[in-house]
Amino acid sequence: MNILIIGGAGYIGSHVAREFLDRGYKVTVFDNLSSGLRENLFPEASFIHGDILLYQKLKEAMEGQEAAVYLAAFKAVGESMIKPEKYSLNNITGTVNLLNAASEAGLKYIIFSSSAAVYGEPAYLPIDEKHPVNPENYYGFTKLEIEKFLGWYDRLKGIRYASLRYFNAAGYDVKGRITGLEQNPANLIPVIMEAASGMRSELAIFGDDYDTPDGTCIRDYIHVNDLATGHALALDYIAKNNKSLTVNLGSETGSSVMEVLQTARRVTGKPIPSRMAGRRPGDPARLTASAKLARELLGWQPQYSDMETLINTSWKAYAREAGNSCTR
Ligand code: UD1
Repeated sequence: MNILIIGGAGYIGSHVAREFLDRGYKVTVFDNLSSGLRENLFPEASFIHGDILLYQKLKEAMEGQEAAVYLAAFKAVGESMIKPEKYSLNNITGTVNLLNAASEAGLKYIIFSSSAAVYGEPAYLPIDEKHPVNPENYYGFTKLEIEKFLGWYDRLKGIRYASLRYFNAAGYDVKGRITGLEQNPANLIPVIMEAASGMRSELAIFGDDYDTPDGTCIRDYIHVNDLATGHALALDYIAKNNKSLTVNLGSETGSSVMEVLQTARRVTGKPIPSRMAGRRPGDPARLTASAKLARELLGWQPQYSDMETLINTSWKAYAREAGNSCTR
């Protein structure tokens, strides 16, 4: 099958591209390289340097493709609250463009990178797909709106989709085939890795007075190779059943900021300086997934999402970049 990976030069996209290549798909990556990196491109995949806001180029890229993975989006939660226009244009207008191009090009299937941010403050845990959706930030709002557009284009245009609600994506390719590091990361594990490798001075811990055992926030970290497998299984499912799908992808395990930091100190052997900072607005104390639906419908089972592997694979990528010798 021919597949277009839109945003395939990015952190998650490159892992997804690798997964589909490994499964024998003919992969084309479409990316504007605003945050994606050339070094994340694989020689076996074709590459189109393009932007989802440019209709004609996108439509041409979709011609002859059966499926697309739609990852291209801005994803910084804090920034989305300060610059909603940027998120409206890229995430929402980009989606309208993408869906119109897909229907004109006769694309059958779309796998969409949604987010646990669609749920907002949890009403109960673990969060399953029946949990009410009530995003607390503009980024999450854009993801939820995109899901609604997908629902309508399914009904009206017959484009089947899988909306994958990622929890906290983390880790690097377990075989070390992806080396590009995210620029100016804001997420916990890359920030810890930068502090471990000397690229930044310290980790600021956003709050230690939450109602959790050690006072720091608990999240569900899911390895990016496990996420990538989820994309391939989701495409198999929607193609086989001719039916769209919305599922959580999470490890079903909660780790606190402090636990992540302690594992990182142990695995890297680096002191990783940290300081307590105030709470970051909009952070729920705990978020953990129920991934039962993905397990049952897709046969999906995370393999690499224990904290040790998440940190170990991340450290291999960062230690190489920072010119350190990796201790494990
Ligand atoms: C958020 C979104 C998630 C989205 C992801 C993309 C929500 C609820 N979640 O995840 O859906 O896919 O962003 O970027 O909107 N932390 C620190 N210091 C730091 C960085 C983070 O203490 O320097 C803490 C945070 O307060 C949080 C945890 O680490 O408790 C994880 O934060 P982060 O990696 O930014 O992810 P989320 O905000 O959980």
